[in-house]
Amino acid sequence: MGQDKELIVRSFHFVCIMTVIIGTISHFSDESEFAITMSKIGLTHIPKDLPPKTKVLDISQNNISELQISDISFLSGLKVLRLSYNRIQWLDFSIFKFNQDLEYLDLSHNQLRKISCHPIVSFKHLDLSFNDFDALPICKEFGNLTQLNFLGLSAMKLQQFDLLPIAHLHLSYLLLDLGNYHVKESESLQILNIKTLHLVFHSNSLFSVQVNISVNTLGCLKLTNIKLDDENCEVLIKFLSELTRVSTLLNFTLNHMETTWKCLVRVLQFLWPRPVEYLTIYNLTIVESIDEEDFTYSKTALKALTIEHVTNKVFLFPQTALYTVFSEMNIMMLTISDTPFIHMLCPQAPSTFKFLNFTQNVFTDSVFQNCFTLVRLETLILQKNGLKDLFSVGQMTKNMPSLQILDVSFNSLESDRCEENCTWVESIVMLNLSSNKLTDCVFRCLPPRLEVLDLHSNRIESIPKDVTHLEALQELNVAFNSLIDLPGCDTFSSLSVLVIDHNSISQPSDEFFQSCQKIRSIKAGNNPFQCMCELREFVKNVGQVSSEVVEAWPDSYKCDYPESYKGIPLKDFHMSELSCNTALLMVTTGAIMLVVAVTVTFLCIYLDLPWYLRMVFQWTRTRYRARNVPLEELQRALEFHAFISYSEHDAAWVKNELVPCLEREDIRICLHERNFVPGKSIVENIINCIEKSYKSIFVLSPHFVQSEWCHYELYFAHHNLFHKGSNNLILILLEPIPQNMIPSKYHKLKSLMMQRTYLEWPKEKSKHGLFLANIRAAFNVKLILDTENDHVKI
Ligand SMILES: *[C@@H]1O[C@H](CO)[C@@H](O)[C@H](O)[C@H]1NC(C)=O
Repeated sequence: MGQDKELIVRSFHFVCIMTVIIGTISHFSDESEFAITMSKIGLTHIPKDLPPKTKVLDISQNNISELQISDISFLSGLKVLRLSYNRIQWLDFSIFKFNQDLEYLDLSHNQLRKISCHPIVSFKHLDLSFNDFDALPICKEFGNLTQLNFLGLSAMKLQQFDLLPIAHLHLSYLLLDLGNYHVKESESLQILNIKTLHLVFHSNSLFSVQVNISVNTLGCLKLTNIKLDDENCEVLIKFLSELTRVSTLLNFTLNHMETTWKCLVRVLQFLWPRPVEYLTIYNLTIVESIDEEDFTYSKTALKALTIEHVTNKVFLFPQTALYTVFSEMNIMMLTISDTPFIHMLCPQAPSTFKFLNFTQNVFTDSVFQNCFTLVRLETLILQKNGLKDLFSVGQMTKNMPSLQILDVSFNSLESDRCEENCTWVESIVMLNLSSNKLTDCVFRCLPPRLEVLDLHSNRIESIPKDVTHLEALQELNVAFNSLIDLPGCDTFSSLSVLVIDHNSISQPSDEFFQSCQKIRSIKAGNNPFQCMCELREFVKNVGQVSSEVVEAWPDSYKCDYPESYKGIPLKDFHMSELSCNTALLMVTTGAIMLVVAVTVTFLCIYLDLPWYLRMVFQWTRTRYRARNVPLEELQRALEFHAFISYSEHDAAWVKNELVPCLEREDIRICLHERNFVPGKSIVENIINCIEKSYKSIFVLSPHFVQSEWCHYELYFAHHNLFHKGSNNLILILLEPIPQNMIPSKYHKLKSLMMQRTYLEWPKEKSKHGLFLANIRAAFNVKLILDTENDHVKI
């Protein structure tokens, strides 16, 4: 393949011209930091305020008519000066005597008539073409320009030894503008030692130059502006006969040629036995008429004929008259591109063509059908034509046994006849089907030994899995389609290059990295990646292969969805293992729950958690209630916070534990032995005490149950409770009371015990604090007590 590409370039002939131009451009490109462009701004003089360091100055297409030494002498670093398309009429080369580095001077397209000479040695490129010189402007000082590569000149007349002063230079390129040449009688000009000679004639008049130009060595000849009719055709032939005799002339280009068909065939016929190997005609216009012309395909040195950009001004003509001349050519390479030609004929005898390029014509599916004579054809390019049916293309190749490369890109090819068997010649290794209208079906109609397949810019949605016959495929380009996944390589076991960017791949499957072991390069950017759990595997795989394999990573690989990730490079996309792995998530949740359960059980069993919870619950409920009871209701004539009823047996606990704890918080207690009013009966005292207290605390124990008095107290308090309708009873169970121990007559006590609304005195010392705090909380209310002395605020 590489070889053929080279052939194409060479056949375009530009090789010899391009080397000069490219060489010149690249040579100066690194001066760009001191480059100044001031073209097309109507300047009449070179501005005086340019930085003296300027190296490249483009001042073309202005109105400058005069150049003086003071204009440029201060630009001592100047290397490139472009002054084309101005109105300069006279030039004294001595103005450049302070520009020692000046290498490139373009003065083309001015009105120069005269130059004054001065020894300058630095020029590499000197262009004086397209001016009004009468004779060739050659100073004898030009003979010292030993570095001169390019020389452009113009003249109205020529003399044999005009170029003698520079004959010893080894010029690469000599441009001779003969647009104003007017001499009618025959002249001659001798040119020595040039690689490329470019002659430009008048663009609008018939070719009439009768100079006998002789050359010693010449590699490339280029003629621009050739207008011919049937009569003056011989003038050109005569002009060329001396020039094309030299055996070194391998490349010949005719540029902007307008001719009759008859004259074109005459010119081709003239060149056929000449040494020219690469003939290019660029921008050809055919006028007048096209008729059958005889052409003798004698032995020729010609390898490649290229005709590009043809305008046909003849509308009615026998098609075969035109096409036969080309189809029967006994050369290797033929390029006819950018023409209105609708067809090309099958050669009548086995043909010498190895390379045919018919880019950008209007060929249809009928081209080369049933053509058995293109037996040596290796490369066929039918890019940008009107081909429609992939099956016909396959059929066309059937009789081209040497065909290796086929390019049918930029047509309107469809592959709808999916089920039918399609045939290809087996020799094809490279097939370019890009920019067509092909669908998934195309994979069922491909040459079996393909190595390179270009299918970019089609309408493919998926690559069928059951395509098994592309075992040799190494490079696959399916960019700019609608694929939703990467392919696996089970079907393409040799795949090493995959281009699949600009598709609709959102969740690339693992299969690609698993099955494509031979992959050297994958380009999958610019797809709408869904940055979810499934993508992590792909990102991981990309991270594992070597960095050259994934093309355009990481810049072209971005999240498209979800919205929160949009635009984020895939390489920065991370998701935790936990949020993606359901099994792991379940195991983790289970483990956490187990730990919680064990902890809870432990707390319940060993630390009596339920007791604490009950306490806390009680506390909050008390506080809540206290807050909800209207204060006024409590503001009755209360003297105490609490009345405590207990059995004599429990007195020690009450006095040592309960009372100190409550009184420490300024809770006023009514104790019978302390606060009983003498003279009143015991019952009166009890009722009095209960009524004057905000709450009544009962310390329950087996002794309490047995005490008659205590039961009275409880009865009154309970009565009081229901009377007032509030919950002012606090029961403390100091010691457990067996159910059967409570005498049946005490049914109030029984029912209270049943409701379990008592607070149990914990045995563990650690719990005593919380227990007492809980009791205290019941009194945590703002209450104005009606004491004898004062109103105490709590
Ligand atoms: C196929 O043709 C297109 C368009 O002419 C071109 O850009 C591409 O490089 C070709 N493919 C190959 C593999 O040569």
